[in-house]
Amino acid sequence: MDYRLMEKQLSLLMDEDCGFLPVLSNCAALLWESLEDINWAGFYLVRDGRLVLGPFQGKVACIHIEKGKGVCGTAWEKNETQLVPDVHQFPGHIACDSASNSEIVLPVRKEGEVMAVMDIDSPVFGRFTEEDAAGLESIAALLGNRTVW
Ligand code: SME
Repeated sequence: MDYRLMEKQLSLLMDEDCGFLPVLSNCAALLWESLEDINWAGFYLVRDGRLVLGPFQGKVACIHIEKGKGVCGTAWEKNETQLVPDVHQFPGHIACDSASNSEIVLPVRKEGEVMAVMDIDSPVFGRFTEEDAAGLESIAALLGNRTVW
């Protein structure tokens, strides 16, 4: 996967004047079209002390996630990427789509503060590698710093 190319594509889709909604929507679409073997790609936004569902592609998903709950709430609470090769082994994993077997969740930060999390699910066990984590972290950094939250 060429994450440098994805970064370039995303930066071309970022209009300085627009807020997070169109940017995250386009990013979800870009992830969905670019990554193989995934069944969900999108965002949860930090709002009023919990996570609320943001733009995504895939099946319908739960609307709220509390801090520290599930893979998403853990990524937010710890402020670190969660690379989960087998979601069935992750304590408290929240199953939105029963087809999901592995998952990666990354904090999207502005000046260190978590504004949202990026969540990608796969039906394939061990789908996401450290290389994916590094590439997606650069995408998350671009989003976090250049988006008007
Ligand atoms: N699996 C996530 C919930 C969100 S869905 O995957 C879209 C979690 O455990 O936080």
